[in-house]
Amino acid sequence: MSQTALKKIESLRREIERHDHLYHVVGEPEISDREYDLLLKELADLEDANPESRDPDSPTQRVSRGLLPGFKTARHSAPMLSLDNTYSLEELEAFDARVRKLLGKDDVEYAVEPKVDGVAVALRYVDGRFTQGLTRGDGTEGDDITANLRTLRSIPLRLQGRDLPRELEVRGEVYMESRSFQKMNERRVDAGLAAFMNPRNATTGSLKMLDTSEVAKRPLQIFLFSVVRPERHGLKTQIHALRWMTDLGLRVNPDNSSAQGYAALRRVCERWETKRERLPYGTDGLVIKVNSFRDQEALGFTSKSPRWGIAYKFGVHEAETKLLRIELQVGRTGVVTPVAILEPVTLLGTVVSRATLHNQDEIERKDFRVGDRVVIEKGGEVIPKVLRVVPGSGRRGPKFVMPTKCPVCGTTLVRDPEEAATRCENPLCPAQVRSRIVHFASRGALDIEGLGWKTVDWLVDAGLVKDAADLYHLHERKSRLVEIERLGEKSVSNLLAGIERSKTAPLDRLLHAIGIPHVGATIANTLADHFGTLEALAHADEEALLEVEMIGPEIASSVARFFFSKAGRDFVRRLTEAGVRPEARARRRAATGPLAGKTFVLTGTLEGMTREDAARLIQEAGGKVSSSVSSKTHAVVAGSDPGSKLDKAKTLGVEVWDEPQLKAALKRAGITPASRPA
Ligand code: IVH
Repeated sequence: MSQTALKKIESLRREIERHDHLYHVVGEPEISDREYDLLLKELADLEDANPESRDPDSPTQRVSRGLLPGFKTARHSAPMLSLDNTYSLEELEAFDARVRKLLGKDDVEYAVEPKVDGVAVALRYVDGRFTQGLTRGDGTEGDDITANLRTLRSIPLRLQGRDLPRELEVRGEVYMESRSFQKMNERRVDAGLAAFMNPRNATTGSLKMLDTSEVAKRPLQIFLFSVVRPERHGLKTQIHALRWMTDLGLRVNPDNSSAQGYAALRRVCERWETKRERLPYGTDGLVIKVNSFRDQEALGFTSKSPRWGIAYKFGVHEAETKLLRIELQVGRTGVVTPVAILEPVTLLGTVVSRATLHNQDEIERKDFRVGDRVVIEKGGEVIPKVLRVVPGSGRRGPKFVMPTKCPVCGTTLVRDPEEAATRCENPLCPAQVRSRIVHFASRGALDIEGLGWKTVDWLVDAGLVKDAADLYHLHERKSRLVEIERLGEKSVSNLLAGIERSKTAPLDRLLHAIGIPHVGATIANTLADHFGTLEALAHADEEALLEVEMIGPEIASSVARFFFSKAGRDFVRRLTEAGVRPEARARRRAATGPLAGKTFVLTGTLEGMTREDAARLIQEAGGKVSSSVSSKTHAVVAGSDPGSKLDKAKTLGVEVWDEPQLKAALKRAGITPASRPA
C-alpha cells in the first residue's frame, strides 16, 4: 500500500470523526449530509482498494457484518447501582440535611442534571479506543452490547486529545429524542409494524437487536454522566468530570448546573419544573449529586444506592386539597395516629380522602389546622401523607391539641418521652380489641374466613365477643348470631367451622395471631420450633428466650412480658379452656428436602402469595427464613419492587431466586403453594 494512500485514509478518518463529533456530540455540523456521505464513500472506496489498511475503529466499520450470535455477559468493574428517589422538596431538604450532617458541613455544593429517561450503559475505553459497552443488567453483570453501541455516532470509537487515560470507564444513558421517536413510530406504522410504547421501550428494544445494521437505523443518542473512579484521572468534582468528558469528545448533557447549599438547589429544582417541557427528550426528574468527589467518597453507599446522590422526581406526586377534620385512629398496639380527613382529590389515579399526619410533633411542627389548604403526597409508602400547609390559604381553625384521653375508650393516653408515638395503654380499648381480632383471624395468622372488619364490628357491637378468645364461644350462641349478623345461616355455619378449624392450627400461626409486639410470622415460627408447645414458651423467661437463634433482647423481653403479664396469662388460659390445641410444632415435611437447613431472605412483592405465606412454606419445607442477608444466606427470593436486600445479595454474591424458582423448590419438597387461596 502506498504511503500516500495510507495518509489519505488516515486523514479522511480523522476528518469524518471530526464531523461525527460536530454533528452528533456538539450539534453544530459544518458540512451538509451529502458532503458527509461523499467523504464516507471516498474512505470506503480507498479502504476497499487497500485492504491492509483495515482498522476496526474506522468510521466505516460501525456496523458489523451479519447477525450477532447473541450477547455475552460481562462483569462490571464496579457495581452499577441506581439512585433513591425523592418526590418533594421536603424530602430533598431532608436529603440535604442528612448529607450535611454526615459531612459535618453547613453548606454543600451540588451538581444538578436532568434525569434522562433511557437505558443505562457503561462504556470502556482502553488507550482511547472504545472496547466494551455493557447494559446495567443486574448491576453486577450486564449484557455486552458493544457491537450495537458502536453504531451510535455520538459514541466516539476513539477519544480526542493527547493525554488519554490508559483505561477509562464512563457511564451514561442511551435514549431517543421525543421527535425522532415519533417519526420512527410513524414510519413503523406505515410499514405495517407495531409502534413502540415509549422512547425508553424503543431504546431497550433497539439495544437488544442482533442485527447491528438495524440498530444503526434507530435514532439512538447518548449522554455520559459519570466517570468511574474519577480520582484516578485527577478529577475533583462532578462538574469537573463532565467538562473533562466533553474534552475527550464524549457527549455530555449541556444542561447541567451547580448549586451551593439547599436554598440554591431548591431554586434550580423549581426552575426545572417548567423548563423540562422545553427539552427535546423525556425526563421525569433531576439527578442531584454532591459535587465534590472527596465528599462523595466520605458519604459512601448504602447497600442499595449512593448516599451522595438522589433523584428528584418532578411534582406529579403531590396534590392540593382541603383539610376537613383530624381524626384519631387507634391501632392494634394502642398507638394513636392522627389522620387527616380531606376533601377527596385524585392523586396518581386514585381518589384520596384520608392521609396520615403521623403524630403530634409533626402536626405541631408543620402547624396543620382544620380549614387549611394542604399539599398531600404519595411517596414511597402506600398511605398518602400530608406534607405542608399552603400559606394564606383559608380560614384556619384553632391549633390542634392531642387529646389527653383515648377517643375510643377514654383511658388517659401515655406518651413515651423517647418516642413520638402516643398510646392508649388499655388493652381492653374497643379499637384495639377490634383490630386485634381482625389480625387474629387474618390470612397470615389463623386464616378464619369471613372475619373481616365488618363482621368483627358487628360481633363486638352486639357484645358477643370482647376479645379473640370469645370467638371460641360463638357456637354456643348461634341463633343470636344469625339474627345479628344478617349473614344467613350458611355464612354463620362457615364462620363457625372456620373458627373450629383454627383450634388445631399450627402453633406458629397461633403465636402470630396473638399479636405479641415484635412477633410476626417468622419469629413465631422460630419460637414454635424451639419451644414446641405453647406451654413451654409461656414458661420461658427472658434468658431462655435469648438463647434462641434470631431472638434478640427486644423480642425476648416483649415475649416474656406478654406471657408473664396477667392479661397475657388469662388470655392463653381462656384459649386453652375453649379447646384451642395448636399443633405442637410446624410440620417439617421435608427435613431432607432441597430447602432443608438452608436460610432464605425474602424481599419485594410476590405475586401468588404474601411474604408471610412464603416464609411459612419455606419453614414447612425445612428451610429457615431470616430478615437480613449475609454470606450464609442460601438465596434471596425477590419479588417485584425488591428492596436493598437484593443489592446486598448481589454485593455478597448470594444466589437470587424469583417466585417461580421458589415455587419449584417448594414443589420438590412436596409443598404446593398453589393449593392455597391466592
Ligand atoms: S447518575 C449510582 N446522572 O437514572 C447511580 N443517572 O437511578 C448514579 N440517569 O441509573 C447515576 N440521567 O440510568 C445519573 N444525569 C444522570 C442521569 C442518570 C439519567 C438514570 C441512570 C440511573 C438512574 C438513577
